[in-house]
Amino acid sequence: MAAIDLLRARFFDHFDGEPQFFRAPGRVNLIGEHTDYNDGFVMPAALEYEAQAAAACRSGRLIRIHSLKNGETAEFDLDAESPEPRGDWTDYAFGVAVMLEAAGHRLAGADIVISSTVPVGAGLSSSAALEVVVGYALLSLSGHAVDTVELAKICQKAENEYVGMRCGIMDQFISCNGVSDHALMIDCRSLDRKPVPIDPAARIVVANSMVHHALADGEYNKRRQSCEEGVRLLRPALGDIAALRDVSFEDLEENRDFLPDLTYRRCRHIVTENERVLQAADMLLGGDLAAFGRLMNASHVSMRDDYEISCEEIDILVDIAQAQNGVYGARMTGGGFGGSVVALVESDAVAAFIESVGAAYRDATGHISEIFACTPQDGVGRLTD
Ligand code: GLA
Repeated sequence: MAAIDLLRARFFDHFDGEPQFFRAPGRVNLIGEHTDYNDGFVMPAALEYEAQAAAACRSGRLIRIHSLKNGETAEFDLDAESPEPRGDWTDYAFGVAVMLEAAGHRLAGADIVISSTVPVGAGLSSSAALEVVVGYALLSLSGHAVDTVELAKICQKAENEYVGMRCGIMDQFISCNGVSDHALMIDCRSLDRKPVPIDPAARIVVANSMVHHALADGEYNKRRQSCEEGVRLLRPALGDIAALRDVSFEDLEENRDFLPDLTYRRCRHIVTENERVLQAADMLLGGDLAAFGRLMNASHVSMRDDYEISCEEIDILVDIAQAQNGVYGARMTGGGFGGSVVALVESDAVAAFIESVGAAYRDATGHISEIFACTPQDGVGRLTD
């Protein structure tokens, strides 16, 4: 059954009214990890995996949402005095409603059925896809024009302030603004963006390690604190810096004595990673896939050794991926402590890559990796047949 027909049928199981249909993609990040909240550069692409919604207006100010993933239904009153997060998946949806209203977008009540093909815990932004599809649906049903940059900011705010995760803007931004067949080079300070075409000689391949270590959110926030500490300690020497984006590698090296060793290494990852993203965009535009791949490999070493956000299974998977024929480079993608690996692979070598990485990873760890080649998609919009 087509996605729309299935969603429509499930919608009528729970709600009345004539639904409209929306989609918002998950993402894979090619390079630029943890740089977004340092005002730096990232280069993600939107995936075929996406959150989908069937949604209709209802009278009054209630939002009702049903998830096809877990069969749960929840309600939220837009007029509630001080809405309390519930600590579950509904916070992503209702948090966006709260932040849209706080930004001055008065919303109509709505009935929403949600489904998603983005694997949860795989580092592919299932939560951003959910936030963005709900935000887009609520704005559209209420008759508001959607500004996809503003929507990304509002969804990030929902995650920061309602869910309590201090994420940067990357995931929501790419889900809102992805460009088909392109990666998107994003300046996370100005939010300028530049689509970078993926050379048809290569494919982006994602391999899910199938592990996700629970410490991820706490460690994520700790990494942010280290970056903030680095900026604070470097400021007396470097003057008016607002973020690690403003620190060059030379600045950092000259002033490393001001930083505790751990903070220095955290800062070194961010500073070198920003440089790698800038170089990587040039390499991709210039068709130098081998150089792009080397930057991906270097990014992994930096995440593993300086930022310490990898884990054993991911390192095994990266080693296996990098050893294959026809691979330009491979690295962990996303927040860290599990999730997925991204590789750039010669188009002709993709089938063999998928097979032999899967077999070697299973032999080494016992996990069955889900591995797929992706074709970058457009950002959020209406779902069509
Ligand atoms: C998570 C966050 C993003 C970004 C990445 C790491 O996906 O949501 O904002 O910081 O981790 O690059």
